[in-house]
Amino acid sequence: MAAGGRAPEPRVLVCLGALLAGWVAVGLEAVVIGEVHENVTLHCGNISGPRGLVTWYRNDSEPVFLLSSNSSLLPAEPRFSLVNVSSLHIEALSLQDEGNYTCREILNVTQWFQVWLQVANPPPSAPQCRAQMASGFFMLQLTCRWDGGYPDPNFLWIEEPGGVIVGKSKLGVEMLNKSQLSDGKKFKCAASHVVGPEAGASCVVQIRSPSVLSEPMKTCFVGGNVTLTCQVSGAYPPAKILWLRNLTQPEVITQPSSHHLITQDGQNSTLTIHNCSQDLDEGYYVCRADNPVGVREVDIWLSVKEPLNIGGIVGTIVSLLLLGLATISGLMLYYSPVLCWKVGNTFRGQNMDDVMVLVDSEEEEEEEEEEDAAAEEEEGAQEREEFPKEIPKQNHIHRVTALVNGNIEQMGNGFQDLQDDGSEEQSDVQEEDRPV
Ligand SMILES: *[C@@H]1O[C@H](CO)[C@@H](O)[C@H](O)[C@H]1NC(C)=O
Ligand SMILES: *[C@@H]1O[C@H](CO)[C@@H](O)[C@H](O)[C@H]1NC(C)=O
Ligand SMILES: *[C@@H]1O[C@H](CO)[C@@H](O)[C@H](O)[C@H]1NC(C)=O
Ligand SMILES: *[C@@H]1O[C@H](CO)[C@@H](O)[C@H](O)[C@H]1NC(C)=O
Ligand SMILES: *[C@@H]1O[C@H](CO)[C@@H](O)[C@H](O)[C@H]1NC(C)=O
Ligand SMILES: *[C@@H]1O[C@H](CO)[C@@H](O)[C@H](O)[C@H]1NC(C)=O
Ligand SMILES: *[C@@H]1O[C@H](CO)[C@@H](O)[C@H](O)[C@H]1NC(C)=O
Ligand SMILES: *[C@@H]1O[C@H](CO)[C@@H](O)[C@H](O)[C@H]1NC(C)=O
Ligand SMILES: *[C@@H]1O[C@H](CO)[C@@H](O)[C@H](O)[C@H]1NC(C)=O
Ligand SMILES: *[C@@H]1O[C@H](CO)[C@@H](O)[C@H](O)[C@H]1NC(C)=O
Ligand SMILES: *[C@@H]1O[C@H](CO)[C@@H](O)[C@H](O)[C@H]1NC(C)=O
Repeated sequence: MAAGGRAPEPRVLVCLGALLAGWVAVGLEAVVIGEVHENVTLHCGNISGPRGLVTWYRNDSEPVFLLSSNSSLLPAEPRFSLVNVSSLHIEALSLQDEGNYTCREILNVTQWFQVWLQVANPPPSAPQCRAQMASGFFMLQLTCRWDGGYPDPNFLWIEEPGGVIVGKSKLGVEMLNKSQLSDGKKFKCAASHVVGPEAGASCVVQIRSPSVLSEPMKTCFVGGNVTLTCQVSGAYPPAKILWLRNLTQPEVITQPSSHHLITQDGQNSTLTIHNCSQDLDEGYYVCRADNPVGVREVDIWLSVKEPLNIGGIVGTIVSLLLLGLATISGLMLYYSPVLCWKVGNTFRGQNMDDVMVLVDSEEEEEEEEEEDAAAEEEEGAQEREEFPKEIPKQNHIHRVTALVNGNIEQMGNGFQDLQDDGSEEQSDVQEEDRPV
């Protein structure tokens, strides 16, 4: 409330005492509601017929003169004017204009009238409805807000359909028992304001039980981590999500710890189990979503397994292969040593005893050389001048690095041996490239 309703000081009482000396008609009180920025007219009683001398006061901590029908007295502010001989007209109301006004009329006798002016402004936006949990999961709190107006609006919560009244208040808050709730039920808040729309304004909430989604089973390796996820949807008000284990009845609520990390993002919850162990962690996990409308839960089976040793498996396979190879070689040597001797000779005949070339296959090498032949010729020609003694480049280097315990002489031989079927140009280049 704005200024005005303060306890009178003795001085004021004396002053009023003087004013009220000719008091006759007490009461005839009226309440007038004006709107911010609008004009308002306050009537001095409802007397019809000839009027006396009218004076208006603002009944603040002490009466303040505003206006008189004696035209030799000027109004306190130009916003104030007298209409119809006795009524006070106020232009462009502001919240500060709220308060009690008094008019004094001198006829045969002196009469006093009081008018309580309230200045209101409607809330600028629409009302907001909300439902939330209260007292754990057992109650539903409905809240309706319609802010920014003055004075406070009134709220009426109604069940829909049916129109059963839940409650009526200035706060807009109502509590409902679980027994009064069912999935999909709607509640409407009808808000009214003194200067708001005639029909009032409203908003609706629809309450819904949660739905829960999760993977039915998960696997964790001993010593590893695993994350179970639980997605809740459709719940209004939003559900509280709990992780439980049904090792016993009633089920045990999983509390966050270094072993169990629980995170929630909106209506999605995750449970991360660190350092899985078969004894402690294998079994059923329950994700439970709870709101006053309903409860839903899903079971997740977690199996804990010994970790697979990939290194070991690979090692075993390689060992087995090597063993097989050794066996086959042994058998070959045993049954046909002559054949092996012949094969050996063939290799030696190629004069490659001391040179081992790391080439994937002969054909590949030849192809490469044919492709590169032209380019090499050019490059070779250029480099002849600049780097006459340089060790051969590119695929030649490839070969040089492949030389095993050879000397330069043997390396040269190695080239020739390898490039028996090379073109003439190719030989040319090789001659030049060959280190001296
Ligand atoms: C106006 O007077 C009435 C009683 O006559 C009182 O209840 C009310 O609070 C007053 N208003 C203000 C703004 O002081
Ligand atoms: C308020 O009154 C003044 C003069 O009395 C008039 O000019 C003006 O239009 C009125 N305003 C409203 C909002 O009625
Ligand atoms: C107005 O006048 C009528 C009859 O003249 C009377 O009954 C009533 O009490 C008066 N006061 C108000 C505030 O209407
Ligand atoms: C004027 O205000 C004073 C307190 O401020 C109150 O006691 C008195 O009743 C009011 N006068 C009228 C006529 O309401
Ligand atoms: C009007 O006000 C003037 C100045 O205060 C005063 O002299 C005069 O007597 C008043 N007239 C009436 C009828 O009260
Ligand atoms: C003034 O009086 C006339 C006649 O009684 C009425 O029609 C009119 O609405 C009144 N004006 C105001 C501003 O109250
Ligand atoms: C006031 O005086 C007029 C005549 O001037 C008379 O008719 C009326 O009854 C008187 N009213 C009261 C309340 O005395
Ligand atoms: C809610 O239920 C309790 C008992 O279960 C009862 O005492 C209470 O009055 C109920 N409240 C409403 C608003 O129905
Ligand atoms: C398990 O989580 C812990 C803590 O975040 C981390 O230090 C560890 O490296 C994780 N272990 C594995 C196997 O990912
Ligand atoms: C745990 O839940 C699973 C799946 O619903 C069920 O098969 C099992 O019997 C429950 N265990 C206990 C101890 O209740
Ligand atoms: C993991 O759990 C085992 C026993 O289950 C424990 O010995 C070990 O210290 C734990 N490791 C970590 C990093 O917590």
